[in-house]
Order: sequence, then structure tokens, then C-alpha cells
Amino acid sequence: MKAFFRNLTILSLLLGMFASCSKDDDHVAEKKGAGKTAILLVTFGSSYPEPAKTFQNMEDNVKKAYPEADITWAFTSHIIRNILIKRGEGKFKDIDSPEEAMKKLKEQGYEKIAVQSLHVIPGSEFNDLKGKVDAFKAANPNIKMTLGNPLMNTDEDMKSLVDVMVKKFQADDQTVVMMGHGTEHAANDRYTRVNNFFKAANEDFIVGTVEATPGIKEVKEAAALRPSKNILLMPLMSVAGDHANNDMAGEDADSWKSQLEAAGFTVTPRLKGLGDYNEVVAIWVKHLKVAVDALK
Ligand code: CO
Repeated sequence: MKAFFRNLTILSLLLGMFASCSKDDDHVAEKKGAGKTAILLVTFGSSYPEPAKTFQNMEDNVKKAYPEADITWAFTSHIIRNILIKRGEGKFKDIDSPEEAMKKLKEQGYEKIAVQSLHVIPGSEFNDLKGKVDAFKAANPNIKMTLGNPLMNTDEDMKSLVDVMVKKFQADDQTVVMMGHGTEHAANDRYTRVNNFFKAANEDFIVGTVEATPGIKEVKEAAALRPSKNILLMPLMSVAGDHANNDMAGEDADSWKSQLEAAGFTVTPRLKGLGDYNEVVAIWVKHLKVAVDALK
């Protein structure tokens, strides 16, 4: 009899272990991804409140296109991730790097992952991401993974963007100046090319970059040739973050707003990112579609 109760105790202990084991995070997480497609959205990131809303809008558009997929995020900027994690609140309070996010998706059991770059050009950041995706694929041959192109990859993409922006913002007595980021990478050619496409569509639209060429000097020269003295100033970036708030619209003498005002223009800054416009997000989603289709 004693042995019976002892065995019963051992049995219930064992059952208890199984019960707690099935509640274990790993096991629940494994089920989460099984048979599902994950979409990993990757951007530089921002710690500003408005860009968080822009990212949400981009996610809402992706969700509309892929209601069945699980959507997750990664920010490439180490500094921004640290700010957000330290702040400890909001949607991105435990934001991952691309490597961390890919590792988590693997642990959760996803076998199909579409990574979508939310970058504007295929510059260094996009190519860094591509390297990380390629390394992950090589190390995990049983996981299908694809990478969607950034916004302005091809001439066709740029023409689509030009169409959207001209339709949205052309107005009488107004020049539209857009501030892109700019880079030392060869993909900086996108800014010159998109500027030419804008010029061909509507000469009142001018593109410059904050960190490369064409710069504010070229923008001022082009704006001086336009009939209007009114400038609508906006970022040609995914979000209106630090560059848009400070380098573009800031009160310092060297901001684009101040420099254009000093040149005699009346400047109205518009602090919205490209990700705030659903028609522009549609171009990113089109690239995502190529990535998702390639998972099949
Ligand atoms: Co920058």
C-alpha cells in the first residue's frame, strides 16, 4: 500500500512536470509560427512619437494586404533601439535588431519569412540587411526567407512615387522641396534620378539630400528658377524623424527652412514621412508581394 501511494506521488509529480512543461514558453511559441508566414519589417528606426504612428500606418497597410501573416519589426539602429528599450513603453519597447528578430522567428517555428526593407534607396543599410538575410539563409537551409526591395529601387518605382507625390501636392503658386537623406553609397544616384523624373512630370518639384548631392545649394538654385516664392518643404524619407525636425524644419540658421527663408522664400514645413501616405506605402507593399510570392 505504501508503495502504491509512493508511486502515485511520483506519478502526480511526473504529471505536474508534464503540465508545467506544456506551459513552457518555447512550446507555446513553437506552435505560434508552425505553418504560418512571418513578415519582418525592417527600418533604421526612430525614437520620435510621430514616426511611431507612421510605422503603425505602414503595418496597417501590410496587414490589409496579408491578413493571415504575422507581422513583426526590427530596427537597424543600435542607438535608437537602446533609447526605446530604456524608455520601456510603447509599441517598440522591446524592439529587436534584424538578427535578433530572425532568430526569434526561427525559435517560434516559422518556416517562411518575408523580410521587407522599409528603406528608401538600396544603399548601405539595405545592403547590410541583405548580408544578414543571406547569412541567416545559409545557416538555416530549412527556412524559406526572401527580402523585399526598398522604395526607390527601379526607375519604375521612382516614376510611381513621382506620380503619387505630384498628384497629392501640386498646387498653384507653390514650389515643393523634398529632403532626401543622401549617402556616399553608389545608390545615391537615386536622388538625382528621382529629381529628374519629378522635373519631367512637374518642374515645381525639387529633390535634394541632407548628407550628399544634390544638396541645399542645388535646391536653392533650382527653387530660384521657379515662379513661386512659396515653398512646401517635406522629407523624402520614410518618417519625419530627427532629420526632418532639425535639419529640415528646425529654427537653427543652417536648417533648410532657415536657409530658404534667408533666400527670400516663405516656407511651410510638412512633418510627414513617405510612410504616412498609403499610395506610397503601396509601392513598398508591391515589393513585399514579390518577396511573399517567392516563398511559395
Ligand atoms: Co541620418
